[in-house]
Amino acid sequence: MTTQIRIGVVTVSDRASQGIYADLSGPAIVEWLQWALTGEYEIVARLVPDEQDRIEATILELVDLEGCCLVLTTGGTGPAARDVTPEATRAVIDRELPGFGELMRAASLKFVPTAILSRQLAGTRGCSLIVNLPGKPKAIGECLQAVMPAVPYCIDLVGGPYLTTDPERVVAFRPKP
Ligand code: MTE
Repeated sequence: MTTQIRIGVVTVSDRASQGIYADLSGPAIVEWLQWALTGEYEIVARLVPDEQDRIEATILELVDLEGCCLVLTTGGTGPAARDVTPEATRAVIDRELPGFGELMRAASLKFVPTAILSRQLAGTRGCSLIVNLPGKPKAIGECLQAVMPAVPYCIDLVGGPYLTTDPERVVAFRPKP
């Protein structure tokens, strides 16, 4: 049986995709979502190398074919030559939401001075929201905790499904009409 809410998780890593080490970041996203979200949803997970065309194709697949209302990528946001996740994301979104990157960097700065090295961004494509997260597993919760309060309403605004959170963990803000 397919559930209405589908969430894409894309790990971007040359080494994890070659099996040199295990992907810990994708599972960290899934674990964090299990902790924060309520209601039924289905995870669609992918693991790709740091290749712009592969990342673009994967986001397009998850949004346009798999119907994910939210796609969370992890990795490839830094300044190294192979870090191309923001470029891939920018190529497939309709509109950028700069506040996501700004807030995640500001929140991350409380944990690591290297937060400013991440070029992570977010944007919408059709009825979906795509958000870049850094590659370190510990960065996942640090960033998601900051932006998740605005994610359900963002998905409402672009015509996606109604996401619900455990209010003791994340208070999803929806302005009163
Ligand atoms: N943000 C948080 N919250 N926690 C972190 O440990 N690491 C930083 C930064 N943002 C980090 C973080 C580091 S060291 C880098 S190089 C950049 O994210 C980019 O990471 P990425 O290339 O794995 O995406």
